[in-house]
Amino acid sequence: MTTRLPLPTPTLPPPRVDGAEQLIDTHGRVARDLRVSLTDRCNLRCTYCMPAEGLEWLPTELSLSDDEVIRLITIAVTRLGIRQVRFTGGEPLLRRSLEEIIAATSALRTDEGRPVATALTTNGLGLPRRLPGLKKAGLDRVNISLDTLDRERFTRLTRRDRLADVLEAVDAALAAGMHPVKVNSVIMPGVNEDDIVPLAEYCLARGAQLRFIEQMPLGPRDKWKREDMVTAGQILDSLRTGFELTPAEEPQGTAPAALWNARGVDKRELTGSIGVIASVTRPFCGDCDRTRLTTDGAIRTCLFSRTETSLREMIRGGAGDDDLAAVWAGAMWGKLPGHGIDDPGFLQPDRPMSAIGG
Ligand code: 5AD
Ligand code: SF4
Repeated sequence: MTTRLPLPTPTLPPPRVDGAEQLIDTHGRVARDLRVSLTDRCNLRCTYCMPAEGLEWLPTELSLSDDEVIRLITIAVTRLGIRQVRFTGGEPLLRRSLEEIIAATSALRTDEGRPVATALTTNGLGLPRRLPGLKKAGLDRVNISLDTLDRERFTRLTRRDRLADVLEAVDAALAAGMHPVKVNSVIMPGVNEDDIVPLAEYCLARGAQLRFIEQMPLGPRDKWKREDMVTAGQILDSLRTGFELTPAEEPQGTAPAALWNARGVDKRELTGSIGVIASVTRPFCGDCDRTRLTTDGAIRTCLFSRTETSLREMIRGGAGDDDLAAVWAGAMWGKLPGHGIDDPGFLQPDRPMSAIGG
C-alpha cells in the first residue's frame, strides 16, 4: 500500500532490461497500462469537471497530431512494456481520427507477443453510430460514464439534457458484444447518493459492470471537500439497502476496484458483481501500473502529479525513438509513491481532469 515516508529523490537512471527500457519506478512498480488523452474538449459540462462555459481549449498546434500520438503509443508498447492502452479525453469520441488511432494501436504486439488490449472511457454521446467502426478498428472494451438515471438530475449535473443518449450508448455497447461494458459512476454528496441502488439495479439487469468511484479533488476547487465526500464505505452502506453483498473472490491485483458479488434483497433475480473504487479512502497507489500521455504530449506519472515531462518539442525537434523512450522511462523512474490527498500539504494538480484523462 501507499507509503508516505519522505523518500529521497532518485538519482540512479532506470535500469535497462534486454536492451529495452521498462517503465519502472524507484518503488518497484512497473507501468503496463497507458492512458492517452486524445482531446481536452467535451460535449458535456459535468459540474464536478468543468465550468458551464467550458475551459480554455488547447490550440490545435499544441495537440499531438495523429502521427505523433501513434508514434508515442508504438514506442510505449514495443519498447517500454505497455500492454494495455486506454483512450480518454475530455471526450475521446470528439477526436475524429479515433478509429485510425485505435487501429494502429491494435496492430501492435506486446512484449509477451499478444495484441495490445485497447479500451475507451467515454460519456457515450454519439457512441452507437461509432461502434461498428471502433469494433472494426479492434477496440476491446468501453467504460461509459453515467452518474444518475434521473433525467433532471442528469441535466443539472452535466448541463445537457442527454441522458437518453447515454442510456442508448450502454445498450448499443452491450448489443455490439463489447465485453465487458463498464459503467463508471462518481458519487457526490447531496447530488446523486439516491442513485446508488437504482444504478446498481440498472447495470445488473443488463449485464453491465458497474464501478462506483469516490470523487477525487480534480475538478473546480469548490466541488470537493474531504469532510463531505461520499466514501466507499458509505456507498457500500447504501448498496446494502437493496443488495446482499459478499466480497468477490477474484484478487484485486492492480485493478483499482474492490469487487463485490451482489444479489437483490427483493429482486432476487438481480445478481452480478459491482466494483467500488476507493481512490481517496483506500488509495491503491502502491499497486499502480499506469502512465499517462496528455493531448499536448506530456507524460504524467500520476493523475495528481505536480510536474510533467513534455515529449512534444522533442518529437518536433527530430528526436529518435531511443531518446523518447529514455526520457519517458526517466520520467516514470521518479514517480511519487502516492497521491497524498490526505496529506496536510496536498495541492490539486494545475490541470483539470479533462486535460489529464481519466
Ligand atoms: N473524481 C473521480 N472521477 C472523476 N471523473 C471525472 N472527474 C472525476 C473526479 N473528480 C470520472 C468521470 C469519468 C472518468 C473519465 O473519470 O466520471 O467516468
Ligand atoms: Fe466531459 Fe467527462 Fe468532464 Fe463530464 S467528466 S465534462 S463527460 S470530460
